[in-house]
Amino acid sequence: MFLRFTAEAEAKIATKSPFFNGGGVLMVFEIFIFAQLLQDSDFMTNPKRHLITAALPYANGPLHIGHIAGGYLSADIYARFLRLKGKEVAFICGSDEHGAAITIKALKENTTAQAIVDEYHSINKKAFEEFGISFDIYHRTSSELHHQTAKEFFKDLHANGKFTQQTSEQYYDELHKQFLADRYIKGTCPKCGHEDAYGDQCEKCGSTLSPLELKNPKSTLSDSTPTLKSTTHHYFPLDQYEEWLKEWILKDKKHWKSNVYGQCKSWIDAGLKPRAMTRDLSWGVEVPVAGAEGKVMYVWLDAPIGYISATKQWAKDNSKDWKDFWQSKDTELVHFLGKDNIVFHCIIFPSLLHAHSENYVLPTNVPANEFLNLEGDKISTSRNHAVWLHEYLEDFKGKTDELRYVLCSIAPEQKDSEFTWADFAARINNELVAVLGNFVNRTIVLTGKYYGGSVPQSNNFDDTAKEVLQQLSDLKQQVEQQITAFRFRDALQAFMQMARLGNKYLADLEPWKLQKTNPEAVEPIMALANIITASLAIVAAPFLPVMSQKLKAAYGLQADFKEACREELLEKLKKVDNPGLLFEKIEQEQVTAQIEKLNARKPTSKHMAQKQEISFDDFTKLDIRTAEILEAKKVEKADKLLELKVDTGLDQRTVVSGIAEHFKPEDIVGKKVSVLLNLAPRKIRGIESQGMILMAEDESGLHFVSPKNNTENGSIVS
Ligand code: MF3
Ligand code: ZN
Repeated sequence: MFLRFTAEAEAKIATKSPFFNGGGVLMVFEIFIFAQLLQDSDFMTNPKRHLITAALPYANGPLHIGHIAGGYLSADIYARFLRLKGKEVAFICGSDEHGAAITIKALKENTTAQAIVDEYHSINKKAFEEFGISFDIYHRTSSELHHQTAKEFFKDLHANGKFTQQTSEQYYDELHKQFLADRYIKGTCPKCGHEDAYGDQCEKCGSTLSPLELKNPKSTLSDSTPTLKSTTHHYFPLDQYEEWLKEWILKDKKHWKSNVYGQCKSWIDAGLKPRAMTRDLSWGVEVPVAGAEGKVMYVWLDAPIGYISATKQWAKDNSKDWKDFWQSKDTELVHFLGKDNIVFHCIIFPSLLHAHSENYVLPTNVPANEFLNLEGDKISTSRNHAVWLHEYLEDFKGKTDELRYVLCSIAPEQKDSEFTWADFAARINNELVAVLGNFVNRTIVLTGKYYGGSVPQSNNFDDTAKEVLQQLSDLKQQVEQQITAFRFRDALQAFMQMARLGNKYLADLEPWKLQKTNPEAVEPIMALANIITASLAIVAAPFLPVMSQKLKAAYGLQADFKEACREELLEKLKKVDNPGLLFEKIEQEQVTAQIEKLNARKPTSKHMAQKQEISFDDFTKLDIRTAEILEAKKVEKADKLLELKVDTGLDQRTVVSGIAEHFKPEDIVGKKVSVLLNLAPRKIRGIESQGMILMAEDESGLHFVSPKNNTENGSIVS
């Protein structure tokens, strides 16, 4: 810890201190470090307030469990925990409403970008709310306040000479009269040959691309081949921040999660390049400087500024000062997000904040998660292989804590992890129901039965009970330590240990037997069981907020984190009502139904999935005509091939076809068929084949795609 603050203080001096001029000021330098150190260590160990952000989801589709496990759940646990500790928290999120993906979707669906973001902003906001993600604000980047904030940010950097300008050749769609953002260009990946790679990335092989590398580029707007035209953009010279980043991350953030630190290191080691911060698009935040008319800010510039504008709105609504959260040294900023967002939050946005003329808070930590897979496969929006949050909420009404529990238990904190419905059921049944629910239920039922619901106030605890209390309080401390170290899985495990401890205590002492022989001895046992139950209610709040609330209500309890797991809690536990069963078993049928739902969306093994979409123009390129087979013979030494002569109405030509195993030559002479005529001729076994006979295949074999007998040869199939 100590070292880390020293390094941080040094980094500040190296870049900002007016005293630092390369030598001769050692004394001043040391005093300065010392002063900084005191100040920094004070704020790091006990920040006055916490600014917590969760990546703004694109408002162009619904949320799935991968999003939740990727960051929103851990962010929520962290925020709820800090509130429970009585800290001042601003938990910020909202919709990311710009970017080419949204305009492309609008174009495809023949609607406007605004209509798309309006729809998904409200769908996602509602799903988060129902799921219990406790954002203090869920803002929007299409809002006026955001546009204004992003423009001011840009102007500040611009006025201080933080951008460079570069002119380059970029693809232009002559039909639509517009420059094409990387996402608007598709073509063949130069690395793997995938025919549908985007201008910025190939989704097949994962390579990062630039549009100029694509082979056979096509505009996704018009399907035409784009031309190159020169355009000028503002660039942020990230290369100039390399030294600063080496200090700020590589040296000072060694305690960050290894998956995050490692990714940052490989980006920095590979060398950083200037990044274009403007785009030739019409949807986004207008670039507010002369000469950049018709351009908008790069979405990855405006979106993180969305955290600032959202904080401004929240501060306005709650009579706070947003600057306390963004420009005060005693604020701790933590960004939660999935691994694909790491570079933007750890390298680009901090450099931008650092470049700004005002002193912005930089993230103290970026505890990014890896990815969640589903039933043995990557979650995929386009293939619809996902558990959609809104569908879960529909199918499992009221079972939000259950999903939180499972997703936190398997969170991809260090590496990718996997969600399966069988595991979902097992964890709920064997852990939430059998351990936690069972213990709480036993305690409350016995308290009802023996004392009419009044909690016995007997704190004459024996050594065993004292030992249990000690263990309980150690576990609570572990919960706290793990949460503050962003190890939410371990924190949840420590919490569950508290319930296990309670279960074991009751099982060992068997108060239900003792009650018959020595009822007085049962009173302290049940007193302690109630302390454990109420402590569970308190400590569960960040993880299982619904259960926590229910259980606190059953005791009429109001208590903070400090009060949990202590003997003194007993005084607050006067009476307990039975809240009913906290968790229900998940039945096998529910598991099966969910798996079937996923499978039903998969292409069946019998039929291949639909191929990539093509345009009508693509289709009209195919010249398919009806024809008649005039002659047929086997190709020598080729079991599968027949050499056919067909009358196409235009000519008589040779076609070699792989149907010999299905048809005898003599049986097919005179057959009416369909032929693809303009397929490039190809030599097969020395015979030039000038077309292709269309066939349909099913389990019973091959069938000609035949016109009715009276169709004239050469009729166009379209
Ligand atoms: N919309 C982005 C995504 O879903 C995340 C944006 S995070 C922010 O990948 F910092 F830019 F807001
Ligand atoms: Zn590729």
